[in-house]
Amino acid sequence: MNTLKPIIECILNPFLSEVVEAPSFANIDRIKEVEIFHKSLPGYQVTPLLKLGGLAARLGIHTLMIKDESQRFELKAFKVLGASYAIAKEIKQRLGLENEEITFEAISSQGEALKSLTFVTATDGNHGRAVAWSTKQFGCNAVVFMPRGTSKFRLEAIQSYGAQAAITDLNYDETVIFAAQQAKKNNWILLQDTSWEEYKTVPKHIMQGYFSLVSEFEHQTMMWPTHVLVQAGVGSFAAAIFSYFLASPKPTPKLILVEPAGAACFFNSIEIGDGQPHLTKELNTIMAGLSCGQPSLLAWEIIKLYCDAFVICRDQIAIKGVQLLASPVGDDAIVISGESGAVPVGLIDEICSNQEHIAVKERLKFDSTSKILICSTEGDTDPKVYNQILEREEG
Ligand SMILES: Cc1ncc(COP(=O)(O)O)c(C=O)c1O
Repeated sequence: MNTLKPIIECILNPFLSEVVEAPSFANIDRIKEVEIFHKSLPGYQVTPLLKLGGLAARLGIHTLMIKDESQRFELKAFKVLGASYAIAKEIKQRLGLENEEITFEAISSQGEALKSLTFVTATDGNHGRAVAWSTKQFGCNAVVFMPRGTSKFRLEAIQSYGAQAAITDLNYDETVIFAAQQAKKNNWILLQDTSWEEYKTVPKHIMQGYFSLVSEFEHQTMMWPTHVLVQAGVGSFAAAIFSYFLASPKPTPKLILVEPAGAACFFNSIEIGDGQPHLTKELNTIMAGLSCGQPSLLAWEIIKLYCDAFVICRDQIAIKGVQLLASPVGDDAIVISGESGAVPVGLIDEICSNQEHIAVKERLKFDSTSKILICSTEGDTDPKVYNQILEREEG
């Protein structure tokens, strides 16, 4: 671990647009369509929205709300919201079902034709598991490539849904390129959760799939956040969540991006200052889901214009978050949250309880009126890693 780097760094966005405009892919019709689709999936249930009143009081903020994705189907992560919708959209288009409503029933009733479709993706774990689960539900095939260092547990979790899966000797960004090449070579459908100049349709559908997390939130509470903190790997999730809030007629909360210092591709690109996304070559973080070096282009275009602040932190903040959610303050609920899921709560705790970060606290305007929304994006998606983190001392 590099102990010379600060625990937390924060920069305000120099590219912030003065005009708030929702990206065109986020609109009420699409949000409704996605919501109806997810409700049609077998086993769909709204994930809990928890208010951590004890922690909020200790930190001197008004409210801390956390959406708990450890309970998303049996997958323990939000990713399936994107993968399932994007796969359904591809099936619909490829099987010429343009006049059909997009529901599980309409898609899965296509029988034999579904067996001819193979989806391929690269993943650090959660997205691949979501693709494998979704293809199994619909009755088509999946091939999944994983970066070096991926745990056997994550590999087997994907294989358990009947997908072909393998760990490569490449890093995450190289694995994405490899999966794209394999798609071309084998006539498979690339189902990637990141975008580049020539590849935007599928990742756009994946991002639209993530809208359901916020529409669930809106049905769960009357409270509207003043701040929304979202963790980023390639940024698709954060850009989708931000877009939902930008599309709302209600006041736009402060939108804050959280990344590991060891995989900070947005923060680093903003610091370079030419307005372009840049590759961060060396990735070094325990936050597997956030360990990405190349910002998604679609996400970059939204985040660059509308994200208020970029915050990076060392791994010890994620460890602190995991432990804090496992041993909560007062009567707060226990949340099982993996290292990529728990980093926002660790960050808020560190910023509000350590005087060293007073300047960051002021920059982000955290105070007694703050109603902060965060998402625990995963549960113990790898129970062994989760238990090791619970026992570590530096949190
Ligand atoms: C648990 C978890 N949280 C957050 C993210 C970040 O999502 P994105 O890569 O779209 O930024 C991921 C991505 O895999 C993840 O697995």
